[in-house]
Amino acid sequence: MNAIELMVAEHVNIRRMLIILRQFSYQLMNNPEMDVSDAPKMIEFVRQYADKHHHGKEEDLLFNRMEEHLGSAAQKLVRHGMLVEHDLGRLHIKLLEESIENFKNGQDEARLDIIGNAIAYTQLLDRHITKEDDMVYQFAWKHFESHMIQTINEETNQFEGNAEKEGIQKYYLNLLNELEKKYIK
Ligand SMILES: [Fe+2]
Ligand SMILES: [Fe+2]
Repeated sequence: MNAIELMVAEHVNIRRMLIILRQFSYQLMNNPEMDVSDAPKMIEFVRQYADKHHHGKEEDLLFNRMEEHLGSAAQKLVRHGMLVEHDLGRLHIKLLEESIENFKNGQDEARLDIIGNAIAYTQLLDRHITKEDDMVYQFAWKHFESHMIQTINEETNQFEGNAEKEGIQKYYLNLLNELEKKYIK
């Protein structure tokens, strides 16, 4: 698998979490007494797998090179598009985390903020992933010189190997399976 194929495969896993977040939100909408103790696991997946593991590779191995080597259109696309969306996603997750705490402390109205931020995050990420799969990644692979593609592939393999030693991929795929069993009917 080259770096792009790997990142497209990671998008499939991230989208599985988006479906879990939507189902969790729907169940919370219908049940004001719902146990929300799994929410921190969902937030952990988003922060550690989607953001650190996946966006980490995009930002440090791919997008930085696009900005540097592929001209002003690529620079704008990355800086004002993809990176802004990564940051907006982080904001929704931070607000989601705060609203979970408020709900646990007895504020029923915080359910609005939980659902609002969870759904906003899923819609943002879904569109973001489509843009990357269909346009950003293709643009990069078409315009990079072959030595650059080789460097990105090598560094991606190294990054994956290090994460594998820590058991990152396995841990978060297991977490996905566990949460799907509970929330996907
Ligand atoms: Fe991204
Ligand atoms: Fe991505």
